[in-house]
Amino acid sequence: MNATREEAWKLLQQHVGNESLLKHCLAVEIAMRAYAEMFSEDQEYWGAVGLLHDIDFEKYPDQHPYQAGSLLAPHGFDVEFIANVESHDRNWPGERTLLQKTLLAVDELTGFIIACALVRPDKSLEKLEVKSVMKKMKDKAFARAVNRETIITSADALGVELKEHIAYVAKALAAAVQKPKYQKLA
Ligand SMILES: [Fe+2]
Repeated sequence: MNATREEAWKLLQQHVGNESLLKHCLAVEIAMRAYAEMFSEDQEYWGAVGLLHDIDFEKYPDQHPYQAGSLLAPHGFDVEFIANVESHDRNWPGERTLLQKTLLAVDELTGFIIACALVRPDKSLEKLEVKSVMKKMKDKAFARAVNRETIITSADALGVELKEHIAYVAKALAAAVQKPKYQKLA
């Protein structure tokens, strides 16, 4: 991967116009960078996989994520990068690497955490408590589109304790929204 973060962001915006989907991609980027830091992995690379993981969702909803390659390959993203993106298909047949397990584990969770923060009167990610996220996990009426099962099983596959996982991702998101490029997240 030779693309800079700015190039990756521009590329994403060429294929994704929906604001919520762009926000989702940014949130997943933040969480991927945070976990890359925890695992002493390449934050730029992990962040780029997170940022671009849903690049084909808007144009090819029925073939997602298997059209990502057609959008990424012309810009120099290699087979490994594309496989990393494709791996977040719940039914992806391969054995997931650490990066791939992380992508799956943060994909649904980031949106759920942001949804939990947004229903607070202060909309604060910083003050959001893990126990309140855990409580909302059990509230089926809340953010019903978010698959709880995926959150639980993917965290388990990554080998992280769910509460710690939520705390870590929430903290990363709260820190990121202080930065201008991520301000719109929450
Ligand atoms: Fe996603």
